[in-house]
Amino acid sequence: MVRRRFPIIWLIAALTGLSGCGSGRPPDGSPPSSPAPGGEVKEFHLSAAVSDWQLNGGSAIQAWAFNGQVPGPPLVVRAGDLVKVDFTNNLSQPTSVHWHGVAVPNAMDGTPEVTQKAIPPGGTFHYEFVAPPTPGTYWYHSHFDEMTQVRSGLYGPLIIKPREQAPAKEATVMLSDYGTQPGASPTPVAASASPAAGMGGMGGMGGMPGMSGTPAGMMGAPQQPSDEATAFLMNGKQYPATPELDVRSGERVRLRLINASASADHFIRLDGQRFTVVATDGHELPQPVSGVQLLRLGPAERVDIEFTADRPGVWALHCVIPEHLQRGMAMTIRVDGASGQPQIDQGDPRQLRLWAPDEPASQAQPVRADRTVDLQISGNMMGSSLWTLNGQTYPKVTPIEIKRGQHVLLRMTNMSMEPHPMHLHGMPFQVLKVDGHPVAAATKDTVELGPMGSAEVLVKADNPGTWLFHCHNLEHMMNGLATLIRVQ
Ligand code: C2O
Ligand code: CU
Repeated sequence: MVRRRFPIIWLIAALTGLSGCGSGRPPDGSPPSSPAPGGEVKEFHLSAAVSDWQLNGGSAIQAWAFNGQVPGPPLVVRAGDLVKVDFTNNLSQPTSVHWHGVAVPNAMDGTPEVTQKAIPPGGTFHYEFVAPPTPGTYWYHSHFDEMTQVRSGLYGPLIIKPREQAPAKEATVMLSDYGTQPGASPTPVAASASPAAGMGGMGGMGGMPGMSGTPAGMMGAPQQPSDEATAFLMNGKQYPATPELDVRSGERVRLRLINASASADHFIRLDGQRFTVVATDGHELPQPVSGVQLLRLGPAERVDIEFTADRPGVWALHCVIPEHLQRGMAMTIRVDGASGQPQIDQGDPRQLRLWAPDEPASQAQPVRADRTVDLQISGNMMGSSLWTLNGQTYPKVTPIEIKRGQHVLLRMTNMSMEPHPMHLHGMPFQVLKVDGHPVAAATKDTVELGPMGSAEVLVKADNPGTWLFHCHNLEHMMNGLATLIRVQ
């Protein structure tokens, strides 16, 4: 096993709190009317409304939820199925639904003022698209006033299963944060409410040399508003109220992890178990990576892992960032119904074998680009919270015009001290390089640039229409870090 140098800057920044696919796609961007050959029609009803929701053992909060639950109901379909979603907006604000990472026809993309009008209170919208032939882990979320709507609970898993039955037991784990919103009742946090017996000694990471004395300026700016009321959730709950996962010993288990947080990176560990990373952002890795102990997921990223439950007992799946753990980001995995609460391992995470989507590859992938587009991210300077891409702040942007069928190399540079998870609607991309080195990550739809970092991705512009390209840090996005890419 190649042991990778730990990219400590990410973890320190996080720890300190400073821190093409669619078959059956018609050519004109309009929705399909039949599944791909062999696929079926799958119909769902979704409605968005304010709902009482229990984050933990305490009193209910007012979540904004799809079908009254956080996360929203898992939409599980098979590759090639025709997915029909009848959506009703029962909120007092407009909204829309975006199918994150899925190459849908443009009119179905759920981007207000770009692909559709925002759906008014009381309004309905019919979404319809063919699930891509490549099975994988996707998600859906509101694409309107995201800092309120997504942070309050309007997100859910969209799972595209292979046509044949998969060999492993599987579970989906959505990571998110929850912040108080105007009008919502204050959020109780686990630190005070939790009986977290197994979480004793959560005070620190135990000997992270140099951390306490490191000047804040070197760490980058905060990754999330250090809002006292923020709760960190797994599947909509704070530990120990998080739903548990029961497995049999010897069973092969696939976990689909989805980071739906507004701005936080999470470092997820499965105690007592090494695992294999098999996919990211809904696409299989060229080579599965085994022996992994810790995962980094930026906002909007997904990672699928597999492990064989070969250690008896009770274990925790949790974020290693103390603030996130203390505020609820953990869940229990029980092998053969073992009783008790897990002892959450808080050993030094720097000793663990980390996998992140920027894992270096030994070889560069060959590039055949018809066109190169340079994108420079800057902003948050001189007291302004606005962000720019090539000097422009969304919505005042000049769309980037691309000819359909071209292979376009997007070269992004981050001229700021904050990470930016950059996401392209409508077309997945191949991540070629991060910070100048080739990477092993497969095709993705979101690539995270570190502070002053860079990334190169290759897009096959085969999905006509105007698509949003933006930072998935919801605050950055709402402060203009977005542009449009028009494929025609
Ligand atoms: Cu998760 Cu604009 O998207
Ligand atoms: Cu950003």
